[in-house]
Amino acid sequence: MNTLVGHDILTSDQFTLEELNLILSAAQQFETIINAGGIVDVMRNRVLATLFYEPSTRTRLSFESAMLQLGGQVLSVADAKSSSSAAKGETLYDTGKMIEGYAHVAVIRHPREGSAQELANGAGIPIINGGDGAGQHPTQALLDLYTIQKETGRLEELTVTLVGDLKYGRTVHSLAPLLARFGTRFMFVAPLELAMPAGITNQLREQGVEVVEMNDLGEAVQQSDVLYVTRIQKERFADPAQYETLKGAYVVDRSLIEQARPELTIMHPLPRVDEIAVEVDSFPGAAYFRQAANGVMVRMALLALVTGRI
Ligand code: NCD
Repeated sequence: MNTLVGHDILTSDQFTLEELNLILSAAQQFETIINAGGIVDVMRNRVLATLFYEPSTRTRLSFESAMLQLGGQVLSVADAKSSSSAAKGETLYDTGKMIEGYAHVAVIRHPREGSAQELANGAGIPIINGGDGAGQHPTQALLDLYTIQKETGRLEELTVTLVGDLKYGRTVHSLAPLLARFGTRFMFVAPLELAMPAGITNQLREQGVEVVEMNDLGEAVQQSDVLYVTRIQKERFADPAQYETLKGAYVVDRSLIEQARPELTIMHPLPRVDEIAVEVDSFPGAAYFRQAANGVMVRMALLALVTGRI
């Protein structure tokens, strides 16, 4: 049964296990059909609105590609901050009231935490959070889950290292609680100033999840099934000088990967700056571009499910 119909997608912890399975298996089915040259046009005569108040390449394009491959149409405000009525002071609540008259489902990315919820409060159509500041990025976490399953063959009993900007990185804020539900053992590797928020780490530990915070990336990588690398989130720093001292804190290069288990899966939500050397791209486990491609299938599943088209 599709229990996601009419629902907003705002945080990664909102899903039941059944819903997670539903999303992953719908994505898998879409992928099988598309790879075989088939057509899935369940979103015919439906419109997706994308409202992006912050830069994006993958999230916006993969949502738009997903909608087009489902036979639907897309309305897009690419630079909503300057080209929409937000520049005139319109609230997201009011924007929500508008958007429900123009589209059947909408995706929003915005620099403020809680922004997707504000839009959802006004809109009577399903609202999907495409990243709200340093808060959440639930659709990325779902495509990460899909990728981990595809690359490693399982979701259970994995050892996963999250490295980089764990403080401001919304992708890891969404991914860690999701993976925890499958019994993942975590290693968090970050400069002290960019540690995972205590609220998240404490909650994981209270649930009985094993979380080891460490500085030595080499040691973490040797024990890991999955290495999830994140960009230092320059745009979230109040003090640019602090960014300058922390950038380049951890770099994944050939010598690091050579210490790892041969079957290590290397992921990154992208964009990368310099935290993964290009020489790593040729490793069989370098999955980040495949991960980005998986975003289309997972977003096809989400769009079709929240609008009740499958
Ligand atoms: C991430 C984001 O926007 O949070 N990118 C993405 O959606 N794939 C990660 C980042 O910007 O570093």
